[in-house]
Amino acid sequence: MSYETILVEQRGAVTLITLNRPKALNALNSQVLDELIDAFAAYEGDDGQRCAVLTGSGDKAFAAGADIKEMYDKAAADFYLEDFFSKWTSQIVKTTRKPWIAAVNGFALGGGCELAMMADFIIASDNAKFGQPEIKLGVAPGMGGSQRLTRAVGKSKSMDMCLTGRMMDAEEAERSGLVARVVPLTELIDEAVKAAAAIASMPPMAVQVNKEMVNAAFETMLDQGLLHERRLFQILTATEDKKEGMAAFIEKREGNWKGR
Ligand code: CAA
Repeated sequence: MSYETILVEQRGAVTLITLNRPKALNALNSQVLDELIDAFAAYEGDDGQRCAVLTGSGDKAFAAGADIKEMYDKAAADFYLEDFFSKWTSQIVKTTRKPWIAAVNGFALGGGCELAMMADFIIASDNAKFGQPEIKLGVAPGMGGSQRLTRAVGKSKSMDMCLTGRMMDAEEAERSGLVARVVPLTELIDEAVKAAAAIASMPPMAVQVNKEMVNAAFETMLDQGLLHERRLFQILTATEDKKEGMAAFIEKREGNWKGR
C-alpha cells in the first residue's frame, strides 16, 4: 500500500511512522486511520522490526484531533452504524503486540491525545500540549480519552481536562504521569528512536511479555493481575533467552537473543 497521509521509514530495527498532514495539524481522518492500520500491521509482521515510534510532521502538532471537517456532516446514525472510532482500538492497539512509542511534538488534542495514549509510552517535546477539548465542540472524547486519561492521571485532573477543555503542558504532563520523559523538541526524534533501539535490543519475547503484563494492570483486579504476571514470568523462564540472559550476566557479557 502506498501512503499519502503518513510516512514510514526504518532505522535499523526501529520503524518510524510520521503523521503527515501538517497543514491540517495532522488531524486524523479515515485515510490516516486506514494507512496507520496498514503500517502497524506491516510493522507487526516484520520480524526484523522490534520497536516503532509514531510522531507528527512539523514542529507544531503531533495531531490536533479527529478531523472535525470530516465529522461535521455526519449524522449520529452514521457514527453509530459505522461504530466510528472503534478501529483505533480493535485494529491498532489490540493487534500490535510489539512495542511502540508516541513521540509527541506540539499539540496532542482530542483524538491526538487519545492516539498518543494508545502507545506503550509517551516521550514529549518541551513544547507539547495535551488536551481533550471535545467539550468545546459539543461532544466528548470518542477514542478512549475519558478512560485512558483517567487511568493515566487520575479522576480529578482528567475531569479538569475533559470539563474545561484546557491544555496541559509537557511539564505538567510529566508530573502527572501522562508522559514518561520530556526532551527538547530538536532532540525528540533522536531520543525516541534511541529509546526504541534500546527496546529493540532486548530479548523480543520478553519485550512482548513485559508489555502484556503492564497492560494487564489496566484490565484486571490486583489478584488476577498478579497471577497473570507470575504465570507469564514462569513461561519466560522456559525460554532460551532466559538461559542466555542469565548466563550473559554471570559471564559479564552482552546477551545474544534468539527471540524464544
Ligand atoms: N480537524 C480538522 N482540521 C483541523 C483540526 C482538526 N481537529 N485542527 C486544526 N485543523 C486545521 C485548521 O482548520 C486549519 O486549517 P485551515 O488552514 O484550512 O483553516 C489548520 O489546521 C491550522 O489550524 P489553526 O489555524 O486553527 O491553527 P492555530 O495555531 O490557530 O490553532 C489549535 C491550533 C489550537 C490546535 C486549533 O487548530 C484547534 O483548536 N484545533 C482543534 C482541536 C480540537 O478541538 N481537537 C478535538 C477534535 S474532536 C476529536 O478529536 C474527537 C475525539 O475524541 C476523537
